[in-house]
Amino acid sequence: MMARKIGVLTSGGDCPGLNAVLRGVTRAAMALGWEVFGFEDGFEGLLPPSRSLRLDRASTAGIMHLGGTILHTTNKGHFVTKTGRRGKLQVPPGVIEKARATLAEMEISALVVIGGDGSMTTALQLFDAGLPVVGVPKTIDNDLAATSMTFGFDSAVACVAESLDRLHTTATSHRRVIVVEVMGRHAGWIALHGGLAGGADIILIPEIPFDMDRVAEAIGRRDEQGCSSTLMVVAEGAEAAHGEQIYQRQGQGEVRLGGIGEWVAAGVAKRTGKDVRTCVLGHLQRGGAPTTFDRILGTRFGVKAVELIERELWGYMVNFMGDEVGEVPIAHAVERLRRVSPESEIIRAARAVEISFGD
Ligand code: F6P
Repeated sequence: MMARKIGVLTSGGDCPGLNAVLRGVTRAAMALGWEVFGFEDGFEGLLPPSRSLRLDRASTAGIMHLGGTILHTTNKGHFVTKTGRRGKLQVPPGVIEKARATLAEMEISALVVIGGDGSMTTALQLFDAGLPVVGVPKTIDNDLAATSMTFGFDSAVACVAESLDRLHTTATSHRRVIVVEVMGRHAGWIALHGGLAGGADIILIPEIPFDMDRVAEAIGRRDEQGCSSTLMVVAEGAEAAHGEQIYQRQGQGEVRLGGIGEWVAAGVAKRTGKDVRTCVLGHLQRGGAPTTFDRILGTRFGVKAVELIERELWGYMVNFMGDEVGEVPIAHAVERLRRVSPESEIIRAARAVEISFGD
């Protein structure tokens, strides 16, 4: 195999574990005698004047435990392809040609794209235009099809669980209902796993439309059982039956969800007369150090991405299924969102421990 120069970029929202992937890619590539260049600010760094930095052992030393990405990232710009749950855009051909020219000029023969649903959609369009692209899935939302786990998710869940631990004591002291709004876009994975791990009493997720009267009844049942406080986790994308998702912004690129927590809290206060507080965890879920799980998964993904380049498996993405890191066509990962199945075993287990989904 001839010596290669490869590029790598992080795109979309950041998440814990990105630096572990960059370190994994760099070390695995260097072991093959390759050079690695990291493009800055996602795909934007490919546009002239291109912005990149050399990644080597020194520049990737001591970064695995750091949240965020040393390459910076963006979910805006010239390469945006996703608008909401179903909307798709095409990257303009002129933009793709500029990216192609940058790679040719730098003699880069493969590009590792680390990103979520939107970034993988962009990566697929670049591949369709003939660019040598491989993907590494990342997102705290865990909503990518064709991989049972993305790194970043476990760290976000840990943040939700720790927050619930803290909120539990203050909710109990004041006999309050505390509504915790969490991220996850159109999927309820963070709410479900975070709520289960943190002992939430009610979890509202996009996949199970809720009814405020059922929510109030669940709180009333807890009162009858002598539990005068309630912890609720509400996914930002949750919807009342016959209601709509609540947006903060709808414009170019992905919609920004947010505000459902306050809406639910007002409904609970009105129906129960209880003292209710809302806590929006927001970007706390995306910041901070990755969990050990995410460090290990990120490292394995980085190493696998280099293997895909060796095998010239362009248009493929690394994935995690069962206990194995493998690969799958990017097209399979972006054809639909991976969402929580209301009939799944984990939902049944949650119901068995008396968690209400407000349905
Ligand atoms: O996709 C990751 C995510 O954190 C979502 O859970 C959330 O809706 C969104 O990104 C927030 O995006 P931004 O960083 O643009 O506010």
